[in-house]
Amino acid sequence: MSRLFFLLVAALSSSFVSAVPYSEYILAPETRNLHPASVHKVNGTVTNVNSLIEPSEGSTTFYGNSSVTFDYGKNIAGVVSVTVANSSSPDALIGLTYTESSLWINGQASDATADAGLDEVLWLPVGKGPGTYTVERYHERGAFRYLSLVNNGTASIVVTSVVTNFTAAPLQNLREYAGYFHSNDELLNRIWYAGAYTNQICNIDPHWGNALVHLGTISSNMTISLPQTDTWYNNATITEGGSCVVDGAKRDRQVWPGDMSVALPSIFVSTNDLVSVQNSLNSLLALQNASTGQLPYAGYPFNELGIVSFTYHLYSLIGISYYYQYSGDLGYLQSVWHHFTFGLAWSLSYIDDSGMMNVTSAADWLRVGMGGHNIEANAILYYTLTQGISLATILNDTTSASSWATTASTLKVAANKALWNPTTNLYTDNETTTLSPQDGNAWAIKANLTLSPEQNQKISQALKARWGTYGAPAPEAGSPLTISPFIGSFELEAHLLASDPASALELIRRQWGFMLNDPRMTNSTFIEGFSADGSLHYAPYTNDPRVSHAHGWSTGPTSLMSFYIAGIRLEEAGGGTWRIAPQAGDLTEVAAGFSTALGWFENKMQASGGTNGTITEMRFSTPVGTTGSVSLPGVKGTLKGVDGESAVLVDGVAEGLKGGNWTLAIS
Ligand SMILES: *[C@@H]1O[C@H](CO)[C@@H](O)[C@H](O)[C@H]1NC(C)=O
Ligand SMILES: *[C@@H]1O[C@H](CO)[C@@H](O)[C@H](O)[C@H]1NC(C)=O
Ligand SMILES: *[C@@H]1O[C@H](CO)[C@@H](O)[C@H](O)[C@H]1NC(C)=O
Ligand SMILES: *[C@@H]1O[C@H](CO)[C@@H](O)[C@H](O)[C@H]1NC(C)=O
Ligand SMILES: *[C@@H]1O[C@H](CO)[C@@H](O)[C@H](O)[C@H]1NC(C)=O
Ligand SMILES: *[C@@H]1O[C@H](CO)[C@@H](O)[C@H](O)[C@H]1NC(C)=O
Ligand SMILES: *[C@@H]1O[C@H](CO)[C@@H](O)[C@H](O)[C@H]1NC(C)=O
Ligand SMILES: *[C@@H]1O[C@H](CO)[C@@H](O)[C@H](O)[C@H]1NC(C)=O
Ligand SMILES: *[C@@H]1O[C@H](CO)[C@@H](O)[C@H](O)[C@H]1NC(C)=O
Ligand SMILES: *[C@@H]1O[C@H](CO)[C@@H](O)[C@H](O)[C@H]1NC(C)=O
Ligand SMILES: *[C@@H]1O[C@H](CO)[C@@H](O)[C@H](O)[C@H]1NC(C)=O
Ligand SMILES: *[C@@H]1O[C@H](CO)[C@@H](O)[C@H](O)[C@H]1NC(C)=O
Repeated sequence: MSRLFFLLVAALSSSFVSAVPYSEYILAPETRNLHPASVHKVNGTVTNVNSLIEPSEGSTTFYGNSSVTFDYGKNIAGVVSVTVANSSSPDALIGLTYTESSLWINGQASDATADAGLDEVLWLPVGKGPGTYTVERYHERGAFRYLSLVNNGTASIVVTSVVTNFTAAPLQNLREYAGYFHSNDELLNRIWYAGAYTNQICNIDPHWGNALVHLGTISSNMTISLPQTDTWYNNATITEGGSCVVDGAKRDRQVWPGDMSVALPSIFVSTNDLVSVQNSLNSLLALQNASTGQLPYAGYPFNELGIVSFTYHLYSLIGISYYYQYSGDLGYLQSVWHHFTFGLAWSLSYIDDSGMMNVTSAADWLRVGMGGHNIEANAILYYTLTQGISLATILNDTTSASSWATTASTLKVAANKALWNPTTNLYTDNETTTLSPQDGNAWAIKANLTLSPEQNQKISQALKARWGTYGAPAPEAGSPLTISPFIGSFELEAHLLASDPASALELIRRQWGFMLNDPRMTNSTFIEGFSADGSLHYAPYTNDPRVSHAHGWSTGPTSLMSFYIAGIRLEEAGGGTWRIAPQAGDLTEVAAGFSTALGWFENKMQASGGTNGTITEMRFSTPVGTTGSVSLPGVKGTLKGVDGESAVLVDGVAEGLKGGNWTLAIS
């Protein structure tokens, strides 16, 4: 092999090696064949159980009536195989039970996927002779931290290995991220990577979505006794393609557009797996009602219930906007534009003479009281209108752009007039209540339905005043008082948009820190909801073991820390124009990067600390051929480019910068 050829091969192959730093924080496994990480508990007589722990070697004997519970140390997913050397009876069985939280470890059942009861034990008939016994693929488990092996008979069973084939994120190289985040705060670093991993475990092969065999038949008031059978089948084909994004890993394993609105930006800054996003989005657009334009509450098969949701309908349209924003794929935007205009027209047909949309279906993220001139739904509509105006402008659809601009400005005036309460400094849920929701207030800031930066700050402070020990409550979600990391993700963005990064970081540490570190959690993925008193009861469900511990809608901190704390903002799709606008809060060191089709974006900075520190050092990279600006309030200095060009900060701002590498020189 010639030296030249060798160099060429080396250069080509190096471009496939993950270049992003800090990969030691990535929680996704190194291999797709996972052995148990540790033994959590042994019941009865089981000898040499450590032989099954990674690296697996030797054998373990289960004597009659015994069990072992393994702890993988983090949530994993997949198809379990048990290899048996011999057993003393042809009737010998090994039962498998799974649970995400340690609260539901049980030799007679797994944690739950239905509104009532628990999930069945999977029994492997290991008495048939030596060999490997594998769970059927339709019984793959989407998320579990604890796996129990149960010998419920009198036989002695010799087991030589327990392997889980990790089936999540089927088309990803699991540890080759396209983006990274690092700061001087280890908890925040772990939270960023746990959000990224949560979205990986919520990425599945679409042939193995939940078949929802009990849809509409098991209700929460039923009492179901053990043993349970036929509780779950993960064998419904839910989208086209080879991978897709679902709401939760264990449950529901369906495409939910609301959930995706938080997951999608966090997927973008970490794995950048937008193909899976597009497959999920397409499955929703394919279900658009051809005569009304209405989009489904969720994808197949849940859509078969025919439930209408005004907000989730809009989230599919927001999905189109986000997908275009991160991919820069104009061809895709053009190909789905008729879905967007048709869908938005459906929402606008519910605007009455008040100028606001009158919501006539209660379905939302399982909050209560969704109806009438609801602030959350109207703020999301306002947001969708402004996203639509930008997209229409790009597509030269001037008719839509100008008509939507008129509707949007009327809506903004009307909502502020009808729903703003200057006494509480919060919006009320609708005109006939004093309840001020978390969702509508966070969304009002995110959507720019608010009228001034001062109003944003007032809302931000009023929301903060309601925090409890475990995080930010959602009083609109019923009783007991609930913490929703989905709506909390929007609240975080509201504090950042109100220029209060310290509060956003404090809430991330308090709420997401609890969600990561509490021993009932998985130390790796984020739960879908819990109670304000810290109990793992989520008000919309009566069946606590049903709560999902890996929900993409809880991953807001991942994208928000990249976009707002590190401050790398894409102004145009794919980052053709950008803005570097970091807000360090109390951090002294932050670095983050991610890539788009145009290239690599990165910002590394140091800051003064305190509660709302200023930037003291900064270097950033943006792709050649792009342009952008820098915003560093309170900082005096000059930006120096690699080619000798420089730009003086005027009131902390520099505009018209060329893409490339820039360094801040403080003056
Ligand atoms: C082991 O025994 C404990 C205590 O009785 C029980 O809580 C646990 O569920 C048992 N584990 C299994 C897998 O049966
Ligand atoms: C073990 O569980 C299986 C499945 O429920 C059952 O058929 C079997 O009778 C049980 N064995 C004993 C000894 O209880
Ligand atoms: C794991 O599952 C995948 C998908 O079914 C399959 O292609 C692969 O061969 C399996 N790996 C092992 C080691 O069984
Ligand atoms: C149980 O719940 C179902 C569905 O919500 C309802 O139709 C039914 O009336 C309830 N039954 C009882 C006994 O409360
Ligand atoms: C799922 O698998 C079960 C068990 O084999 C089967 O009865 C059912 O028809 C399958 N459902 C689908 C949608 O393939
Ligand atoms: C108005 O909001 C309150 C509080 O959320 C709720 O109880 C009520 O049902 C809502 N009104 C309508 C028409 O939805
Ligand atoms: C919304 O529409 C429903 C159904 O037409 C109607 O009953 C209700 O009064 C309207 N709500 C408001 C606030 O106008
Ligand atoms: C919009 O119009 C401008 C000016 O005619 C043109 O350059 C651009 O390509 C058009 N954009 C699209 C998406 O057609
Ligand atoms: C938000 O709305 C105000 C008018 O209320 C407007 O001046 C401002 O430019 C808008 N902000 C953004 C980011 O669009
Ligand atoms: C934090 O500092 C920035 C820049 O000086 C300022 O715009 C913002 O209002 C401050 N936020 C708070 C909550 O003090
Ligand atoms: C949680 O996971 C981290 C790695 O992400 C590890 O360092 C830590 O020890 C784990 N904590 C517990 C209590 O297992
Ligand atoms: C920017 O810096 C990186 C290393 O940090 C380097 O790989 C890249 O070539 C530089 N880009 C330009 C345009 O100088």
